[in-house]
Amino acid sequence: MSDKLGIIGFGNIAKAIITPLLEKNFINPDQVYCLVKSRKSFDNLINSYPYKINIFLANSTESKLVWDSPIKILSVKPQQLEDLIEISANKNQSNTIVSILAGVSLNKLEKKFPNHNCVRAVTNIPILVRQGLTGITWGSKIDDVKKIFIKKIFQNSSKIYEMPEDYLDIFLSLTSSAPAIVALIIDSLSDGGLSGGLNKKLSEELVIEMILGTILLLKETNIGTSELRNMVTSPGGTTISALNVLENKSFRSALIESILAARNKSKEFS
Ligand SMILES: NC(=O)c1ccc[n+]([C@@H]2O[C@H](COP(=O)([O-])OP(=O)(O)OC[C@H]3O[C@@H](n4cnc5c(N)ncnc54)[C@H](OP(=O)(O)O)[C@@H]3O)[C@@H](O)[C@H]2O)c1
Repeated sequence: MSDKLGIIGFGNIAKAIITPLLEKNFINPDQVYCLVKSRKSFDNLINSYPYKINIFLANSTESKLVWDSPIKILSVKPQQLEDLIEISANKNQSNTIVSILAGVSLNKLEKKFPNHNCVRAVTNIPILVRQGLTGITWGSKIDDVKKIFIKKIFQNSSKIYEMPEDYLDIFLSLTSSAPAIVALIIDSLSDGGLSGGLNKKLSEELVIEMILGTILLLKETNIGTSELRNMVTSPGGTTISALNVLENKSFRSALIESILAARNKSKEFS
């Protein structure tokens, strides 16, 4: 990449997206131009971020250098969006904003940033370990060269799924909210182990390893989820006793409803 890359809000998720790009020399540190709001975050980044990127405070005159970048990743919290004031150096230049904000529609973004072309990218927390999933919806004016470049940014830390904006809410629910559900399931299963006499640490380790193994089995073989369930459920055995409890507590429908509730909340936001 030969040009600058701007980041408006260099917090946890922005770092998870940008650091692998720097590690792989996809971009040089001096091409990265970031904005943060507080002096504390500014000082922390200057003192401890391992790459010498350009970092500025949002209210400094140098913030214009970040807004000048042809492609910017917008990664403030949704509630911080109101505070931002678009700066457009050259109104004829087609600069692009790639928003990773949960639940903020392209329509809202285009109203907020009328001098930019906008893109939405919904990514999830496993990008911290480069196992993320990113759903992308392109605004109408994004050309193929920019699309390729933007996909490369996210490909370093995630798998990319391009889709119409209508699907982004359910994508977000399944990929960004569901890690919390999985964490809850892991915690609850390990409490089961604890109730059965194991210590919590061992119990949690066993649950995580069991889940990793189960996922690999599903991914690396042709065994489907129903088949796997049948394989470990013998008549009158231990597994059917466990599954019957979940059935009686409406576990399956609770999970389905939880995904739709997150989808509905995301729709409300946008
Ligand atoms: N957490 C998730 O699972 C997840 C997953 C995917 C996407 N997202 C989305 O990612 C976005 C960022 O989340 P995060 O967890 O990375 O938040 P974060 O760590 O709080 O980062 C937000 C950044 O924005 C900066 N900022 C705030 N107001 C600003 C302003 N007016 N001008 C310039 N910079 C400003 C903050 O600076 P200060 O530190 O100085 O305040 C901070 O660097 C959110 O919109 C969220 O929806 C989150």
